[in-house]
Amino acid sequence: PPLKRILTLQDMEDVARSVLSYKANAYYSSAADDLISACGSAPPLIFSLTSQHSAHSENVRAFSRFFFRPRVLRAVSHCDPSTSILGYKSSLPIFVSASALAKLGHPLGEANITKGAGRCNIIQMVSSNSSFSPAEIAAARVSPDQALFFQLYKHTKDALALKLVREVEALGYSAIFLTVDAVAAGNRERDLKAPWVLEDQERELEDQLRPMVEYPQDEAAASVLGTAGGLTAGNDADMTWEKTIPWLRRVTKLPIVIKGIQSVEDAVLAAEAGVDGILISNHGGRQLDYSMPTIEVLYRLRQQRPDVFRKTEVYIDGGVRRGTDILKALCLGAKAVGLGRPFLYAQSAYGDSGVVKIIKILEREVGHGMRLLGAATINDLVPELVERVDWQPI
Ligand code: FNR
Repeated sequence: PPLKRILTLQDMEDVARSVLSYKANAYYSSAADDLISACGSAPPLIFSLTSQHSAHSENVRAFSRFFFRPRVLRAVSHCDPSTSILGYKSSLPIFVSASALAKLGHPLGEANITKGAGRCNIIQMVSSNSSFSPAEIAAARVSPDQALFFQLYKHTKDALALKLVREVEALGYSAIFLTVDAVAAGNRERDLKAPWVLEDQERELEDQLRPMVEYPQDEAAASVLGTAGGLTAGNDADMTWEKTIPWLRRVTKLPIVIKGIQSVEDAVLAAEAGVDGILISNHGGRQLDYSMPTIEVLYRLRQQRPDVFRKTEVYIDGGVRRGTDILKALCLGAKAVGLGRPFLYAQSAYGDSGVVKIIKILEREVGHGMRLLGAATINDLVPELVERVDWQPI
């Protein structure tokens, strides 16, 4: 359909599902075990391309337990949703969360996201397992001052990780997001089934899509564990608070954000470690099934340790699909929110124009929501504007 008929992020996902290959659909939509954190139910044995699992994920559904308490009679004719993330200007309080292998969905892959995000002044976090190299993605920027963040999977060998850090520093990347929730490959059964279903047709495509990252890929692990297994095989499973964060602090001056915080305790440890930001994330439900929906973790952090928000920037990702989701997270103290799958779907369906389109949709939804909430600026989004209910409304 023409782009003007796409009104919501769900519309975009529906179009993407109809154009993506079986394997790409499986990889993008897959999550751990019974898909509870991500999808709220087990995957069918024969995964259908029209399956709507990801639309009803627990990450998504959890947002529906938070209701607004709008305030009225506040001048809102001029609402400004712009903000900054780690000091970098952003037209909306959102960023692109790293997702691997964008080329599975479209030949220009991550470069579509770079271009679309750049045109709208949104920051992209680039995956360690992108289908293009960090240099190729940097070259796709719409201007030399477009900020990019880099998501780091730390390799077991410090020297290999350091080489990658040096590479992205030299390319002008603006921050390191260290992913800490992928010390083992997520058990993605939908993903595991895909090769059996389309073994022959897809083999050729798979060869073209080997990630460009410098780390040697573990072929044996890939064949046993599916796409996720191959991509996480070199990841350091012995990272610790004592060793790894000080190591990263020593080797780079770039801001450091820990991606994959899932408890109040770890958020406190991260703030004490002096990192510049934390990203509360369960990897889109792709790692440990029954990991807590991220808006619930944010809510608990706000209630139990409001001091953390003064020490470090706090972000969340997972299940953000509407302007209201973004506003709820901001009211609860998030500086910005990340979106993963929606950007993959948008670039798969319409290239960089699709990416621009979903940002415009979110811009309209956020502006509309701010007005009706009585919040003219981002600073007006305060905890008193939301209330958590203990029933599941939908
Ligand atoms: C991811 N995610 C991810 N995270 C990361 O740190 N490095 C990576 O390479 C990837 N790769 C990846 C691939 C795909 C296909 C998906 C869907 C996700 C996780 C991602 O950064 C983010 O945490 C989630 O996608 C957020 O959830 P939503 O927005 O997809 O619901």
